[in-house]
Amino acid sequence: MGAYRDTYRQSLEDPEWFWRDAASGVDWARMPIRVLDEDRPPFYRWFPDAELNTCHNALDRHVDAGRGDAVALVYDSPVTGSVRRYTFRELRDEVACFAGALRGLGVGRGDRVVIYMAMVPEAVVAMLACARLGAVHSVVFGGFGPKELAARIDDARPKVIVATSCGIEPSRVVEYKPLLDAALDEAAHRPDACVILQREQAPARLRDGDVTWADVVARAEPVGCVPVAATDPLYILYTSGTTGRPKGIVRDNGGHAVALTWSMANIFDCGSGDVFWAASDVGWVVGHSYIVYAPLLAGSTTVLYEGKPVGTPDAGAFWRVVEDHGVNVLFAAPTAIRAIRKEDPDGARIDRARTKSLRTLFMAGERLDPQTYEWAGEKLGVPVVDNWWQTETGWPIAASPRGLEALATKPGSPSVPVPGFDVRVVQPDGQDAPAGTDGSIVIRLPMPPGCLPTLWNDDERFVASYLSAFPGCYLTGDGGRFDEDGYLYVMGRTDDVINVAGHRLSTGAMEEVLAGHPAVAECAVIGVEDELKGQVPRGFVVLKAGVTTAHDEVAAQLVQLVRDRIGAVASLRRVQVVAALPKTRSGKILRRTMRGIADGREEPVPSTIEDPAVLDQLRPVLRER
Ligand code: COA
Ligand code: AMP
Repeated sequence: MGAYRDTYRQSLEDPEWFWRDAASGVDWARMPIRVLDEDRPPFYRWFPDAELNTCHNALDRHVDAGRGDAVALVYDSPVTGSVRRYTFRELRDEVACFAGALRGLGVGRGDRVVIYMAMVPEAVVAMLACARLGAVHSVVFGGFGPKELAARIDDARPKVIVATSCGIEPSRVVEYKPLLDAALDEAAHRPDACVILQREQAPARLRDGDVTWADVVARAEPVGCVPVAATDPLYILYTSGTTGRPKGIVRDNGGHAVALTWSMANIFDCGSGDVFWAASDVGWVVGHSYIVYAPLLAGSTTVLYEGKPVGTPDAGAFWRVVEDHGVNVLFAAPTAIRAIRKEDPDGARIDRARTKSLRTLFMAGERLDPQTYEWAGEKLGVPVVDNWWQTETGWPIAASPRGLEALATKPGSPSVPVPGFDVRVVQPDGQDAPAGTDGSIVIRLPMPPGCLPTLWNDDERFVASYLSAFPGCYLTGDGGRFDEDGYLYVMGRTDDVINVAGHRLSTGAMEEVLAGHPAVAECAVIGVEDELKGQVPRGFVVLKAGVTTAHDEVAAQLVQLVRDRIGAVASLRRVQVVAALPKTRSGKILRRTMRGIADGREEPVPSTIEDPAVLDQLRPVLRER
């Protein structure tokens, strides 16, 4: 572990030296003199006196360096039967033009733009156009419904919203515009304009204040990059917390560009001219970091795939994309590989001669189960590298850093802490847990560049959510342990956040929807293990006295309500009516105990329980598969 150990030690012993060195990988409008502002703990800022433009670093810089004709973006869309390639020059020109369109609509530095789009190149163009102007984008995953979208609109208060008229799922066309209209009807904030990208599969009916992408672009003049402070926000990405109110994760410009550039070379071992494919969605952090920003910052080609691992058209789709575009590095969620394995257990659709460009498969978004790890490694014949991180950090906290040193991997572990992250496993009293002992995973402050400096407009919630449990540390919300060799094992969330098919969701948000039904007195949603999706939610409701509607009917209404309000992506398919929910004497529902029983564990009955008989009654219901 020589190269890794040395680099890791340097990064913690002298972070300012370490990140000043890494900052040379980025073009600055004003070079950083100070590296880290530690004047206001627990708030830290990287490169406080520097200026840059992230879009310049992702596009213009490569064109200026003579790589204008290299391919920057490949759009591969089996759901529309199209493939389109953009060189760095073409992408820069499209981005400059759309930035001009946004400026024409009044968007300037610091203004927010909400982006609610399918996986089309224009989504990437819109994000980079915001970066070009110094505006702040907030992308909302297309699978979210009006309730989630409205919450984000009200918190980010965008000047403009950019949306596609529809998204295309294998089984149906999902019209986004009615969902956007419903969200706007619900939200208190009004944007100045909505820019709609009309797609031929379902063009949208426009309302007052709507303009089409084609119209605004036709009128627009291209604009250049606006230098911004390194500490200025590049984007806000909302993620699920334990309550129904999403958290607005803020990403700065400078730290983000430095960290992602460093990660491409040192973790992903991928550089200029290589082809990188993150099979995620631009609505998630993996999509922000590794579809859009990191590959382009590094001068790699990025693949934008509008399709699924199975069903578009079959379980060979991923390997076809690898072959067609010469993908060198693939980044996917374990659930995608599980879906492929289910349909093609022997890997008959994998022909290694045709996927020979592939060097490494990176996996993240949820725990990589050993079976999936083994299957992928055996069938593909390339290293499978688990890496653990979260929306908050923006890049991996633990991984085998392939560009530094090809460390041995161990099934079930995302390997070792990445340089810059002082990862500890602590016991409830804050002391480090010995190797082999489970505890809360925390990161000692300051976290490295790229991690959230705060929550959007809410320093207080930032401190309360992440920095209060263990002073001087950031609470990841994940539990786990180190082994004797310093490998980390991440075992799952210690809060009510769940991870469904690589999608981070809040059980609290689903409970809010269930509780809004007139027949429901009380409810609980828990995440239970699922073979394909890792976890799926299950709902339990107690009805109000006097409700006479059949239980099945109420349950069906509740399932539909969550689909309509949060989105089908919530995957809540089972809601059961029960007589009572187990609680502590202070009235807290015992969700963790319920979850344990549902997952088949022998859960001890908590000493604080109000009425053990309620839990006994519920046990067989929870155990039903
Ligand atoms: N827009 C609209 N609807 C969407 C959507 C989007 N962008 N994404 C998903 N949905 C819908 C789906 O159509 C589905 O609807 P249905 O209930 O009517 O069938 C529902 O949300 C659930 O979708 P999904 O979680 O994708 O489940 P699935 O059963 O359709 O597919 C997998 C299962 C495993 C193939 C799929 O979940 C998958 O590809 N997962 C990988 C996810 C991933 O890469 N995440 C990124 C993390 S890094
Ligand atoms: P998100 O913010 O959507 O990226 O989700 C972050 C959460 O997903 C983490 O807190 C973990 O619970 C889980 N997660 C992501 N990657 C991994 C991984 N490699 N191993 C285990 N859990 C993971």
